[in-house]
Amino acid sequence: MSSPDEQQFTAGLPSAVMLVVLVMGIALTFASWAGLKPPPIPQAGPLAQPRSLKQLGAPTEATRSAIPPDNPQSSEKIALGQKLFFDGRLSADGTVACSTCHDPARAFTDGRPTSIGIQGRVGQRNAPTVLNALYNKTQFWDGRVNTLEEQAAQPIVNPSEMGQPSLEAAVARIAAVGEYQRAFRRVFGRAPNGPDLVRAIASYERTQLSFDSPFDHFIAGEANAINDAAKRGWEIFNTRGGCNKCHALTEDKRDVSNFMDHDFHNIGIGIIRHNVVALARQARQLINSGDAAAIDRAAIETDMSALGRFLVTKKEPDDIASFKTPNLRNVLVTGPYFHDGSQETLWDVADHYNKGAGLQNPYLDADIGPLALTEGDIDDLVAFMASLTSPDYKELGVKELARQRKLSRTNRPQRDTVRAFGPKPTRPRPPQLSDPSQ
Ligand code: HEC
Ligand code: HEC
Repeated sequence: MSSPDEQQFTAGLPSAVMLVVLVMGIALTFASWAGLKPPPIPQAGPLAQPRSLKQLGAPTEATRSAIPPDNPQSSEKIALGQKLFFDGRLSADGTVACSTCHDPARAFTDGRPTSIGIQGRVGQRNAPTVLNALYNKTQFWDGRVNTLEEQAAQPIVNPSEMGQPSLEAAVARIAAVGEYQRAFRRVFGRAPNGPDLVRAIASYERTQLSFDSPFDHFIAGEANAINDAAKRGWEIFNTRGGCNKCHALTEDKRDVSNFMDHDFHNIGIGIIRHNVVALARQARQLINSGDAAAIDRAAIETDMSALGRFLVTKKEPDDIASFKTPNLRNVLVTGPYFHDGSQETLWDVADHYNKGAGLQNPYLDADIGPLALTEGDIDDLVAFMASLTSPDYKELGVKELARQRKLSRTNRPQRDTVRAFGPKPTRPRPPQLSDPSQ
């Protein structure tokens, strides 16, 4: 049997097929509305509290410069932001808070492939963690906004997330509560309003830094802080695995803080399931660059989600189906993986890279190709990634590693050893969007 990846990349589907796909999509969406409910809102437990700035490995200067001059931190503002983060009043029917999809007990994720908003509406994207999001130069998988303040306003009004008709509608719910009236006046000197509401939430998020992992102790000189497998995995990450080409600030400097390049790449996730060229043509007409709300809806609610960064920039072919390189800290406990939550374990992620997935994908990043990693190498890479788990999630991490390891011994949907050890294939030429014959 051939894996989805090996099937021919379809540059053009007849429109009748597209229609059927569309109708099926709508039917599925309604089915999910009927069946699924968001879970009860996770409350603020000990893991929700602001974290120490003095964790081993925390980049002091980057932490300081992540605070914008027009939104300085104060403990009262942070406490207000924390209250708002866990408050269902920000959603249209009161059932969904930020913490519904960013639960501190799950390292600020929801553990689902893609998130569920009000009335059980299922989105297209996996919820990234809020931990260390303060270091992101752009927010969301496609980087469609830059700051945490801008980011916080989007889910509140997205119909598939919190579903408010406007930010003002959310503010009105908050402003009706005396305690919030007093808190906003104390912190900002005025009544509750949209800009201040997102400032408070962003301030709270900027307290969620997460370091002090076994890996940080290893880098600080404690040779036995991580096991030999993790040490070998760190070497593979920076050499034969080529992971450092993207999960580091530069290709040849070992960045031990956040494992990201603040850039976007197409690494071959999900592209075969979508008729990317047709979607890109559609997106070019439907969405003006810079219309953040329209891009937000397309990204969360439609198949155009698969276009990634292209939705934001309209740059072809480079940005088609490319996504932001995510931070790898706490990655063991923030699965499932990738922008669409399509991979269950870190072994699946490694298998994906090992085979140089996306053979027929003309937009694939040049740095993706067969890696010839052995099973032992893959175990080592996973051991390294597991060593990036902070102490707050140590117990969860031990359980999750055991679960993933067990699954990986019987179930490896992405494994393709022949391709992993084969030659690097030549890639098809990207079709021109403006040429309808392609
Ligand atoms: C229904 C689930 C849901 C709710 C509710 C929700 N989010 Fe998210 N969040 C997501 C998903 C999914 C993404 C990724 C979307 C994308 O990239 O297109 C995301 C992305 C983010 C990011 C970007 C992180 C990164 O690494 O790029 C931050 C920060 C964030 N959310 C904070 C919040 C805040 C603050 C709230 C409340 C105001 C909130 N979220 C409400 C699901 C949710
Ligand atoms: C060409 C750049 C590039 C290279 C090389 C690369 N990555 Fe990635 N990585 C990305 C991007 C971009 C994503 C997000 C892709 C998506 O979701 O569509 C990602 C996602 C991931 C994720 C999922 C994280 C999450 O929160 O869902 C893991 C784990 C990961 N990479 C580990 C690795 C490892 C291990 C290697 C080396 C074997 C590697 N990466 C090589 C760019 C790269």
